Amino acid sequence: MAKGIFIDSSKLLPSYVPEELPYRESALNELESSFINSIKETGFEVLQIVGDVGTGKTATMLRFAQNMISKYGKRTAIRYAYINPRQHGSTRIMIFRQLAYQLAPEAYSTSLSAEELLFETLQTLERLNVRGIVLLDEIDFAIKKNQEPIIYNLTRLNESKPSGIIMIPTVVISSRAMNFRDKLDRAELSSLGNRIMFFERYNSEQVFKILLTRAASSLNLSAYNEDIIKYIADITSRPPVYGDIRYSLDVLYNAGRLAESRGSEAITVEHIRTVMSITTPSITQEDIELLSPELKLALLSVTRALMMEKENYTSLDKIVKMQREICSEMGVKEMDLSEFIKAIQELDDRGLIDVKGVARIGISGAPLHNLDDFLTYLISRLNFHDK
Ligand SMILES: Nc1ncnc2c1ncn2[C@@H]1O[C@H](COP(=O)(O)OP(=O)(O)OP(=O)(O)O)[C@@H](O)[C@H]1O
Ligand SMILES: [Mg+2]
Repeated sequence: MAKGIFIDSSKLLPSYVPEELPYRESALNELESSFINSIKETGFEVLQIVGDVGTGKTATMLRFAQNMISKYGKRTAIRYAYINPRQHGSTRIMIFRQLAYQLAPEAYSTSLSAEELLFETLQTLERLNVRGIVLLDEIDFAIKKNQEPIIYNLTRLNESKPSGIIMIPTVVISSRAMNFRDKLDRAELSSLGNRIMFFERYNSEQVFKILLTRAASSLNLSAYNEDIIKYIADITSRPPVYGDIRYSLDVLYNAGRLAESRGSEAITVEHIRTVMSITTPSITQEDIELLSPELKLALLSVTRALMMEKENYTSLDKIVKMQREICSEMGVKEMDLSEFIKAIQELDDRGLIDVKGVARIGISGAPLHNLDDFLTYLISRLNFHDK
């Protein structure tokens, strides 16, 4: 019998943190030595990772924290908090609640203020003799959304606990661009410091090497060859994708799924072409996984309204009507109109849809020539993840 396409398809999904991160080894080393130094000196350090979409920022911070636990966890108890404002909410209190909840659940309480949560977290870590690593991802998203000084306390941990040892040796902050710094005041900026690691976009050769390592752990050897991987690397490192490795992986994953559903023994160029004509770098699996049920409903409404329209744009009116229809089909309560409009705005902020006016709402980067297939495919993914 033929072997199937995947050994383990979950290893291609965005939630998987790969063991090996080619081209990010030096960043991992820098993070590790900062961590070790901070522990020796019982101080703390703030490091920033700045890089465009899909340059490995999230994967690198998570790999770093997990490596520290597997390497030093036997000698020193280590915990880490991964906070993503897009996922956990972007207000100051939401971020500090996540911090306490993940680093020191013993101290977590919804009645505490942000400062109190940080103080209690530091106290608890010291009492239990546990080191805590803080990973604050996509800080630009939080700063764009609100004016509160989010990183102030995190960059001045010594002021939160002047007497004791600081049990948070490393704070890693990531952003897509440098301009989040423009929104900070001088005090925040000066304490943030200048330890910045810039992640360049991957070029075609790098995408190739990365895809090859990812394929080796997720696909059967008989299901692909280097030419197929090279093909994906070449097209996804050119405009309009420009080496967004997330999209390259999305293409590989979906091409594998397609090959599987067609009963093929291996992924072909044809599978890749088909997948690329119905997917878009602007909406990947990860973007969909990060959506709340409300946002999924809103995106589904936009998608189905566009489908009815058979045009590249539709109106808010039609989207709202569609939402009603979907809710009655699914037997769920409709969203309040103002909440629904907020959700539409949020999708626009995330770059998933394109709001050019109440009568002109479309999906960013949807392939024009194949809109129908693309929308059907998007709907199937949205429905699938609602279950
Ligand atoms: N060097 C690498 N080796 C193997 N896989 C990688 C590498 N860099 C990134 N990836 C994978 O590519 C995908 C995108 O990477 P990641 O999520 O870390 O990007 P990002 O910089 O955080 O992007 P964004 O700004 O959109 O959040 C993930 O699935 C990640 O595991
Ligand atoms: Mg990321």
